[in-house]
Amino acid sequence: MTALPDGVAFHPGFIDTAGQSVLLSELRGIVKAAPLFTPEMPRTGKPMSVQMTNCGALGWVTDKARGYRYQPDHPMTGKPWPAIPVSLLAIWNAVAGFPAPPEACLVNFYRPDAKMGLHQDRDEQEFGAPVVSVSLGDDARFRIGGTEKGGQTASLILRSGDVLVFGGASRLAWHGIDRVYPGTSMLLKDGGRINLTLRRVTRA
Ligand code: SIN
Ligand code: FE2
Repeated sequence: MTALPDGVAFHPGFIDTAGQSVLLSELRGIVKAAPLFTPEMPRTGKPMSVQMTNCGALGWVTDKARGYRYQPDHPMTGKPWPAIPVSLLAIWNAVAGFPAPPEACLVNFYRPDAKMGLHQDRDEQEFGAPVVSVSLGDDARFRIGGTEKGGQTASLILRSGDVLVFGGASRLAWHGIDRVYPGTSMLLKDGGRINLTLRRVTRA
């Protein structure tokens, strides 16, 4: 593994097996209230390979007509997003180094062939807060570069229970998921990977 860029902090195994199971059962409740949906790329309407939902006061959504945005309600049900579980708020408090709580938790669900192209997280108004990313389920290869498109990148394997923080000089780093490795975790009965990204959206 190449050295991680400045501003990236990796906490392998931050959440133990018991903690992962608790988080998973909380997520089941969230998905029941706020069903997974298939996001679409702006303008083209091309479906993304991941499925998404959110918890928190604001949720990140995207569709053909209106593109990338945060909104307080679920795009299909119109209901407010469920609250962020206290276990996730505790993780933010432990690793974010930021005085205000996160407002959004994007839940990404990856089936075995899902991936996520290189992108920047830049739909927030508060770039002083890092992005805190929690991985559950199957391993995945995460790629992160600098803040300029097309620069050098480093990759690392994210496993169930790992927490990755990107802030500071890496807050606007390009990043994505090259691939998921099916069958590498027993956490999810039917396999797949869940990634949770906690973000501050409005200025703190
Ligand atoms: C994302 O950048 O939204 C997801 C990253 C990941 O799945 O680890
Ligand atoms: Fe992202």
